Formats: sequence, structure tokens, C-alpha cells
Amino acid sequence: MDNSATTAVDPGVTEAMLPYFSENFGNPSSLYSIGRQAKRAIEEARQKVADLIGAKKEEIIFTGSGTESDNLAIKGTAYRNRKKGDHIITSSIEHHAVLHTCKYLESQGFKVTYLPVNKEGLVNPVDVEKAITPETILITIMHANNEIGTIQPIEEIGKIANEKNIIFHTDAVQTIGKLPINADTLGVSLLSMSAHKIYGPKGVGALYIRKGTVIESQMHGGGHERNIRSGTENVPGIVGFGKAAELAKVHLPEEEKLANLRNSLIKGIFEIKESYLNGHPTKRLPGNANFRFSYVEGESLILSLDMKGVAASTGSACSSTSLTPSHVLIAIGLRPEEAHGSLRLTLGRENTQEEVDHVVSILPDIVNKLRMMSPLAR
Ligand SMILES: Cc1ncc(COP(=O)(O)O)c(C=O)c1O
Repeated sequence: MDNSATTAVDPGVTEAMLPYFSENFGNPSSLYSIGRQAKRAIEEARQKVADLIGAKKEEIIFTGSGTESDNLAIKGTAYRNRKKGDHIITSSIEHHAVLHTCKYLESQGFKVTYLPVNKEGLVNPVDVEKAITPETILITIMHANNEIGTIQPIEEIGKIANEKNIIFHTDAVQTIGKLPINADTLGVSLLSMSAHKIYGPKGVGALYIRKGTVIESQMHGGGHERNIRSGTENVPGIVGFGKAAELAKVHLPEEEKLANLRNSLIKGIFEIKESYLNGHPTKRLPGNANFRFSYVEGESLILSLDMKGVAASTGSACSSTSLTPSHVLIAIGLRPEEAHGSLRLTLGRENTQEEVDHVVSILPDIVNKLRMMSPLAR
């Protein structure tokens, strides 16, 4: 129940990848036939990833991860447009791949506005508009949040960005394959993706770069990926991403069923007293349920669930190496002790009603036992 962290590789994806480790091992830059074959496989995968977001094949650049795509989009835009301006707008609930990149750019002399969100985790497009200055060169707002699942009003923000001629990037790592996406309709110039969240392999991502948008390469070398991301391509990974994208398109209509399954999980968990749903009640990712329980520590919950064979995550200490609570939960207005008592369950394609029922049946006992141990609960 931690499909937002990663997903199992679909057997169809593994099957598509396998030949590119062995008999079709060619370097896509080589002129002989196994090289050309690898090149062709990459281009087919590019088309499939483009199809998933209604883009053109030429608008997709393969990278090594969602993190790299975010870095490339943000640094690539910032360095390219440095002479035009030095101001970036983002939100306070972005993934660290965006937030830490923005922090780094601040150390390089750029100015960054971190917009607040409301208690459901929504960015207000009016705040985006108000934050724009003549120096603004980039707006980067995630499509949906990885912790609380809140889906942002990207189309509205896109309209504002386009009216003002500002490059707009969205981190769609959590939404491709889960929500229908059309890059044009969203109004984005740049969109980050990652394969391992959609039943593809780890270590491969992609960046959509709208035709006409120019960014600075962050990886220099042999000129691969239209000179934007040098490095011999991860052919099996890219082929796997292509297959995962193709399958994601086929499975997209099932996301509604997943939302129903998620709703039954939420309904069941609400039976536990003093349990609260984090995030937006309806504008949220189909598989996402994020709860907090008074007087309970997230880490203890995760470990207790793990002992019963359930994999879940929390926004508190164990999810990072520091003791600070999740920046997302703090940004939606939770106190640190509330943020520490949070539990994220994210359903995927393979989860069943029986599994949901199992969690709903074991969780009340776990929460009660932990509360009995808590001095705060008495
Ligand atoms: C919203 C978001 N952005 C970026 C990433 C990073 O992607 P990757 O794991 O491919 O580096 C993640 C992964 O958790 C994510 O959820």
C-alpha cells in the first residue's frame, strides 16, 4: 500500500526490456544493425511516452529519473534565462527534487517565492499571479502532491503563465498514468515524469519540453537526446518506460475503480476515533489516502503495519534521515506532533478489496495499542 513510493514492474514491461540487455545490446549511436535497432526502440518508446501526455515525440527527452527531470527543467530554464530575470515561483509543498533545486539556485543568486497552500494543500492561482514580477522567468508547481495527493489547478496557472509569457513547469511524476493528461491543455512548457511510479523500471525519467521552449543542458558530452542530456541511453530502461506508458494508457479508465477502492479504505479508517484525512476530500489522486491519528507516532504505525505484512509510509522522521516532520504536512497547517502521527496509504493496480478490508480490520487495534503507550493520550 505504498504505490506512490514505487510500483512493481509490470510483467509485460519486463518482457519488453529483456532483449535489450542481451541480444539487442547495441549502442544506439552505433551505425551497424544492433545499434540501429536500439535507436529504433528508443524512438518507439519516445512516441509511447509522448502519447501518454498528448505530446509530440520530438518534445520528449529521456533522463535518469524524475529528480533529474525536475533539475533539468528548473536549472535549465534558470540558466538559459538569467539575462532576462532571476525570479522563480514555486509552492511550499513541492517534492524535494524541486524544492532543493530552488534552494540551490538561491545560493547561486536567484530569487525564489515559495507560495503557501491552504489547509487542503491547494495553491491559489491568484497568489501565483500576484507573485509575478518583471523578473519572473519560471513558475514550477507540481501537478499532484506525492504525500497528500492534492491535485493543483494546473490549467488555471498555465493560463496565467502563458498570458505573461513565463515558462511553466509541472512535476507530473505522481499523475501520469493516473489522471488523463494533455500537456497542451495543461498549458505547461515543461513536464517531469518518472517510469517507476507507473509499473516501469527505476532509474529512468523523461522531460516534456514544449516545441519552442529552450533550456540549457545540464549534462554535457556526446550530444545525446538532442544535445539536452548527453550520456549513452539506458536502452532497456527507456524501452521499459515506453511499454509502461503504453500500458498506463490502456489501464487509465481503471483509475476510477481505484478511487472507489480508496474511498472504501477512507470510510473504514474513519471508524477509528480521532482520525483525520489530510489533503483535499475530492481533488486528490485516485489511490491516495493520507490520515493522521491523534497521540500516535507515524513510525510506530509503519512498523506495526509492516509486522502484519502491510507496506505504508509516513510523513514523519523515518521517511527522511532527519527528525523534521514532513514539510508538506507543516505547510497545510499541522503542528509537528500532528504531522508525526500521519499515515500514507497509496493504492495501485494490484491492490484488492480484500487487502483494503485487511488494513481496515487491523488498523484500529494497532492505533489503540499505540495510544495506550502514549503519555499524551491519557
Ligand atoms: C512528485 C515527485 N517528484 C519527483 C519524484 C522523484 O522521482 P524519481 O524517484 O524518479 O527520482 C518523486 C518520487 O517520489 C515524486 O513523487
